[in-house]
Parts: sequence; structure tokens; C-alpha cells
Amino acid sequence: MRKKILAANWKMNLTNIEAESYVEAFLNEIGEVNDVEIVIIPSFTSIPTLVQASGKAPFIRLGAQNMHWEKDGAFTGEISATMLRALFVKYVVIGHSERRALFGETDEMVQKKVHTALEAGLRPIMCVGETLAERDAGSVQKVLRRQVEEGLKGVIADRLTEIVIAYEPVWAIGTGRTATPAQAEEVHAFLRSLLVELFDQAAAGRMRIQYGGSVKPENAEELMREPNIDGALVGGASLDAHSFARIVRASEKALN
Ligand code: PGA
Repeated sequence: MRKKILAANWKMNLTNIEAESYVEAFLNEIGEVNDVEIVIIPSFTSIPTLVQASGKAPFIRLGAQNMHWEKDGAFTGEISATMLRALFVKYVVIGHSERRALFGETDEMVQKKVHTALEAGLRPIMCVGETLAERDAGSVQKVLRRQVEEGLKGVIADRLTEIVIAYEPVWAIGTGRTATPAQAEEVHAFLRSLLVELFDQAAAGRMRIQYGGSVKPENAEELMREPNIDGALVGGASLDAHSFARIVRASEKALN
């Protein structure tokens, strides 16, 4: 059984002070959660605040939005895997489409980061997804195959359970335009079969594939009901504690 993973990607939003009140409001609303995994992915500057604030809620895991692939050195402005581990961070987003499109992140960089994260004991959330032009050109599978093959090159099957793939169609991110559950499921099923081809049936069956792109309280339940959708990476709708709590609740409902 793959435990669904609901992750709040705050992107470049919320200060450490706002993070503190967010967690308080979120915990008040959510109580305790065991059936799904919850990850909060704030800015680096809010991580220590969240470590403290979530002390009362060990079921909340922490994530980071990015890291460098080198262990340390002269890389002004970058953050290392060891620095994240020292703050009890468990997950790290790698290759988000905003980083690919705006900061020149390539499949090769994604691959290096995946390996560095795993070596440091961090769990990568590796993002893949096609643009609208690529979808219109009928190249969804070709693009995803390249991103997954390159990103996971050199990873052994045993370690796939530590990695989450986030399928985030670029045309659905921040646009309010969600892939329909059927559209998302079709791609997730393709990704699962690709993992079988690249690794093996058992490892592919254990790996979690999240959907991301305009997930909201209103559409979370039906997306989470799809057999190959193992969670959500939520941007805009995770910035409000109440809204993210409703997404968690909707996802729990989908389990029944
Ligand atoms: P969105 O962002 O939910 O605002 O579309 C998702 C993401 O980029 O992870």
C-alpha cells in the first residue's frame, strides 16, 4: 500500500512569522493525521520555525524547495543537503518546473541532485511535466520519458521507495487549470509502466507518484481516488492553512 503524500509547496511566500501562525492554525484544524503523510515545504528561512512549531505534531514532515548537488564549497547563495539534514528536513523538491524554466535547471542537474539527496538521507520529490506546447505536439510521453530516465539514471531499484515523482503539467501550475482526474491518471499510469520498464514491477509498484497543478479543496478528493495518484504537491492552495487542511481532509476521504 502506498501512503498518500500531501505536500504544501509555499514557493517564495510566507515569512517565518507567518509560518508560525500557519502551523498553529493548521494543527488546530487538522488534529492528528495518520492515514496520509503531510509535508510542509517552506522557504529556507522558515525551516527552523517549522521545526519548532511542528514539535507538537511529529506527523508533519519538513521539506525544502531546492538544494545544490555539491556537498559544500564556494557556491554563494546555495544550500547543501547536509545543511538541510541538520534541520531535520526529510524531503527536498528537485527539478520543479519553475527552477527548470526560470533558473536553467537541466535534467543532468536534477540527476546530480537526486544522487546527492539520497546519499545525505534526504528524500527527493523529483518534478516532471510537459508544457502546453509539448502536450499539443503530442510529446507528453517523450518528454516525461526523458525527464524520468535522466533524473533517475544510476539509482538502484531498492531506493525508489525513498523517491517521490511529482507529475506537474506546466500548463496546470498556478493557472487554475487542473488536469482532469482522467488526464492525470493516464499520465500516472504511463509513468508507472515506465518505472516497470526501467526498474522492476515490485519497485515501480512501491514508488509514489504525486500530482501537482492547481490542486484545491474542491478537486483533491476525485484526483486522490485515482489508483495511480499517490498524493499531491500543492502550491497556491497550500498558502492558507484552512485550505491545505481541507485538501488533507479530502484526501483522507478518498481512502474510503
Ligand atoms: P499550484 O502549484 O498548486 O499553485 O498550481 C503547484 C506546484 O507548482 O507545485
